[in-house]
Amino acid sequence: MFSVKDKIVFITGVSRGIGRAIARGFVEHGAIVYGSIRNEQYKDELLKENIYPVIYDVRNFQVAEKTLLPIYEKEGRIDCLINNAGISSNTPASLFKEEEVRKIIETNFEGAFFLCQTYYKLQKKYKIKQGNIINIASILGLVGTMLASIYSGTKGAVLQLTKSLAIEWANSNFRVNAICPGFIETDMTENMQKREELKNKILENIPLKRLGKPEDIVGAALFLASDYSSYMTGQYIVIDGGLTCQ
Ligand SMILES: NC(=O)c1ccc[n+]([C@@H]2O[C@H](COP(=O)([O-])OP(=O)(O)OC[C@H]3O[C@@H](n4cnc5c(N)ncnc54)[C@H](OP(=O)(O)O)[C@@H]3O)[C@@H](O)[C@H]2O)c1
Repeated sequence: MFSVKDKIVFITGVSRGIGRAIARGFVEHGAIVYGSIRNEQYKDELLKENIYPVIYDVRNFQVAEKTLLPIYEKEGRIDCLINNAGISSNTPASLFKEEEVRKIIETNFEGAFFLCQTYYKLQKKYKIKQGNIINIASILGLVGTMLASIYSGTKGAVLQLTKSLAIEWANSNFRVNAICPGFIETDMTENMQKREELKNKILENIPLKRLGKPEDIVGAALFLASDYSSYMTGQYIVIDGGLTCQ
């Protein structure tokens, strides 16, 4: 039941970071993994890792169906959609320009929503009687912090989207869950990692006394994609070294 062997998985944002680690984890466990990238330069290295590259910018959701269709034509279904692609920002709330706000909302929230919608429609079209969605949210969807107003807002929205879709699509046998990572060592947190004082302050508040690694997120994604979580929907798993439990 824990197996994801031969499951067809589509993951957004596998060029690096958490998305890449999740893609590798699924390949290692026998899944057939399609991963979205924006830049052709990653194609060869992904293929070497048995991750099938798909060029897709999640802000171009008008072409979501066209992007997923070749996977349906080849595999007949997608067993699990993982909405991972995301961007953050350290802009103070008082200084945000409309363009940056739009970009974060389009990437983190609208990008995830329209892929969920497209996935749901295509599963129906191909007469697949189930679906499984995992949204990579954030602990900043649960709690606030300095310089994260819009990012935090989009991640909170992703969590509420997760719950609402779980209810709306339960009759279609779709499960929709989320993962909330804490501070993970990726390019997204590079600035914080470089600022020794800030990093130490954050570490002081993490009971496990280390930042997370992208690989720390993989187990929860495998669990949510597997049949062992078959009675679980509309929920989120927090992976933050204990940061938000205090
Ligand atoms: N790192 C953390 O501490 C942390 C904590 C909580 C939640 N998260 C969430 O985890 C997810 C992955 O973050 P990460 O830490 O792995 O960040 P990352 O290393 O910066 O990677 C972000 C990924 O998203 C892709 N991406 C960004 N905008 C995109 C777009 N418009 N269309 C398609 N792909 C796009 C990037 O592709 P390119 O290479 O083309 O830019 C890259 O593959 C995000 O949703 C993030 O919010 C991260």
